[in-house]
Amino acid sequence: MTVATRTGAAGPRARSDALVVFGFSGDLVGKKVFPALYAMAKKGRLTVPVIGVASSKWGVDEWHGHVRDSLLHKSHEGGIDDPAAFDRMMSLLSYVSGDYNDAATFTALKAALGSAERPTFYLAIPPSLFATVIQSLGHAGLAGLAQDARVVVEKPFGRDLASARELNAVAHSVFPESSIFRIDHYLGKEAIMNILYFRFANSFLEPVWNRDHIAGVQITLGEDFGIGERGGFYESAGCLRDVVENHLFQIVTLLAMDAPAYQSFEAVHSAKLGVLRAMRPLSATDLVRGQYIGYHEETAVAHDSDVETFCALRLFVDTPRWAGVPWYLRAGKQLPASVVEVQVQMQPPPQQLFDDAGPAGGRANYVRFRLQPRAGVALAARIKRPGREFVGVQRELYLAQDEPETMAPYERLLGDALAGDGALFTDEDAVMAAWAVVEPVLAAHGPALPYGPGTWGPAEADGLTAGDGGWHDPASDVPIDLPTDASPSKARPGR
Ligand code: BG6
Repeated sequence: MTVATRTGAAGPRARSDALVVFGFSGDLVGKKVFPALYAMAKKGRLTVPVIGVASSKWGVDEWHGHVRDSLLHKSHEGGIDDPAAFDRMMSLLSYVSGDYNDAATFTALKAALGSAERPTFYLAIPPSLFATVIQSLGHAGLAGLAQDARVVVEKPFGRDLASARELNAVAHSVFPESSIFRIDHYLGKEAIMNILYFRFANSFLEPVWNRDHIAGVQITLGEDFGIGERGGFYESAGCLRDVVENHLFQIVTLLAMDAPAYQSFEAVHSAKLGVLRAMRPLSATDLVRGQYIGYHEETAVAHDSDVETFCALRLFVDTPRWAGVPWYLRAGKQLPASVVEVQVQMQPPPQQLFDDAGPAGGRANYVRFRLQPRAGVALAARIKRPGREFVGVQRELYLAQDEPETMAPYERLLGDALAGDGALFTDEDAVMAAWAVVEPVLAAHGPALPYGPGTWGPAEADGLTAGDGGWHDPASDVPIDLPTDASPSKARPGR
């Protein structure tokens, strides 16, 4: 697939010559951005100055200590195993401390940028500050078109359709669309990219990938931990805004899209947009909201908060391919497992020749995309058991990637933004279309129902799927990973 850079016919865009990270002392930067910068430094791909901006008034030694501690203790990606690369990275770092509402902060930033002409500004800050920072970049003359600056904005982009439009207008008053990189780190994950590849690099799937053969799709994004130190953010977002209208919808688009019309990410974006626009806006009866017991005691959470930490919903994609097929999505904190999985349920055979091969006898065939913790794809099919009786078992043929990922999502996406490559970012139309789907339930919804930590959300969530065989529990699945003595193509028990 050729990669469409945002400059289109004009050819590849010049690489950024500086990276500015707002929110440098924040949780996201500590967990994801420092490891990404460090990984780039190890590969010799971090060559531009990096300026961290934060309100914390720390000296250089404190900043250095913070970066080191974060890599050692916050990152899940292996600490510091290459001291020379770490030193190279540190030599590129400098810091600007100041209030984002104070023009002096941006004057100081301008001085720190020196002669840089194509800085990338990455906003790893609370969404409520996006507009302030973007406007201040404009006022300080840091984002003029002639400079070819870029801005990378974290999700959620806005709080609803109206605020997303407003934020978009602010962003466009300072940056052209081609310079706005709306990040959804799920798009930088190998397992998610593999959905696109697996669907369209194989020929056996397409003929059955439609309403005639597929009974329903379930997607689960479970996390077995709570909101931790992110109470302030979570109170303003909630599960629907945090992971559903972005991460889960992106997975739906990749599964539901028609084949891109030509070989370019531009065509992929357009096929995905078609899905988002065909999603039926949600109604209150499509959504069950939950809140884990104990959420009220978390730091920075209101004692009477109704913010949801769990969502289960039923969605329809009203295209000819998917008409009438239910898509069940659920996500939440404090669930039984940290797992992201898609289960595509096939229809049973049209004629029930064998008692056990229909809905009454058990589950029909399915395709399972395990996206996390370890990526893989399983195809479940029935095979006859030895003996006179025509009865069988369902087994999974599984394909697992046995090579480690070469790049974490933030490393990939920050590198792409610096290179001006927008293939794995979300454009304004997609963001607006996603908000339009959830808009009706942002205000009109039932209360967040309590659920016990370690359960799959409130019992009411089961009501959504009751008529379609219930939720398939990814935690009880045989995990897709390779037994040490097996080859990747070995069959294993299904359900
Ligand atoms: C983030 C959400 O976008 O995605 C978090 O803000 C969530 O709440 C995280 O935990 C999940 O990402 P990953 O890569 O750990 O699956």
